[in-house]
Amino acid sequence: MAHPDGLDFLVNRSDWKQHRFDEAEAPEIREGQVLFRVDRFAFTANNITYAVVGDMIGYWRFFPAPAGWGRLPVMGYADVVESRHADVAVGTRCFGFYPMSRYLVIRPGSVEESGIVDAAAHREGIAPTYNTYSPTEGDALHQPEHEDALMLMRGLFMTSFLADDFIGDRGFGEQAVVISSASSKTSIALGHCVSTGGRARAVGLTSARNEGFVRSLGCYDEVRTYDEVGDLDASGPVVFADMAGNPAVRRAVHEHFGSQLKHSCSIGGTHWEATQSGDDEGLPGPNPEFFFAPAQIQKRSAEWGPKELQRRIADAWSGFRSFSESWLEVRREAGRAAVARVYDDTLAGRTEPRHGHVLSLWEPGA
Ligand SMILES: NC(=O)c1ccc[n+]([C@@H]2O[C@H](COP(=O)([O-])OP(=O)(O)OC[C@H]3O[C@@H](n4cnc5c(N)ncnc54)[C@H](OP(=O)(O)O)[C@@H]3O)[C@@H](O)[C@H]2O)c1
Repeated sequence: MAHPDGLDFLVNRSDWKQHRFDEAEAPEIREGQVLFRVDRFAFTANNITYAVVGDMIGYWRFFPAPAGWGRLPVMGYADVVESRHADVAVGTRCFGFYPMSRYLVIRPGSVEESGIVDAAAHREGIAPTYNTYSPTEGDALHQPEHEDALMLMRGLFMTSFLADDFIGDRGFGEQAVVISSASSKTSIALGHCVSTGGRARAVGLTSARNEGFVRSLGCYDEVRTYDEVGDLDASGPVVFADMAGNPAVRRAVHEHFGSQLKHSCSIGGTHWEATQSGDDEGLPGPNPEFFFAPAQIQKRSAEWGPKELQRRIADAWSGFRSFSESWLEVRREAGRAAVARVYDDTLAGRTEPRHGHVLSLWEPGA
């Protein structure tokens, strides 16, 4: 059966400010393939980072696109509308990485209750967790009424849970964890993990524009703007969790804390234009280290067992999701204009941090 109503949002891989929509026909699926109808997906600054590091980490390889253009991966839910795979039933709803499109074709390799892995040739070599679609039926975290929060924050929360666990596990003896881009959802999750864990104080660094919002959250013990780094207490050991990736902010933190900075953890790059504007030449303190969440998953899976790790993440997620009800405003929108606007606003850093954008390319009646 042909689906002539395909639609893809494409980003120019060498100039992320340029984008276009291509009307596409979802290919007729072949033996062994499955067709997803992408229902809804979340869009945050994290997806912009996928474009920034797309060539380095391979995010542009997730989904085929015309030469020079890319389809950004987004977390969302989709339903199987056609299947030529014996083990995947029409109607299966899955959480996973989808393109900003109406349809996605996959070629399932392994099919289990807990996950369907896309074994399409272009996804070879990409980490299995990125290629896995989780059927809602076999997903312990799935709650139909909380799908929006799951799309928006499940992946981000998991990173922050693991980063907090990594910092505690390494025994830096920190009295505070200083977190940049404190208004981002990933940082809010980390602030929440640190402040509820009780091991250290959570200190948020943010822009003047977002200071009021960050203060209102209650998940940070202290909040400062980027130009107030010099006011922070530097008398005890600290760890820096860098979500902004801004060389000037990183330098200010390293210079202020000097030898009290026990670890500098690079997690994100929300200030993507600034990331290209400086370097770490002569940076005092420890060398910034990229945080690699899969390594912490592997370590804890070996020590605790995968089930216990999942149980701890599920417990912590449930506390964080409840907390998010006090600040997160989900904004659901559909259609080309909405998708393009949210993309442009997120790229330019114009979105309100309390908003969680959930999008669809299916307009009512389309
Ligand atoms: N390494 C990993 O495994 C991993 C996993 C998950 C997320 N992350 C990273 O964590 C970061 C946060 O992602 P998120 O989805 O949580 O973000 P988000 O909630 O959409 O964050 C929005 C905030 O980011 C800052 N920002 C966004 N765009 C900006 C721009 N163009 N210029 C300046 N500031 C901008 C602003 O914070 P301030 O005003 O407070 O600076 C803004 O309030 C991303 O870089 C993401 O890639 C990394």
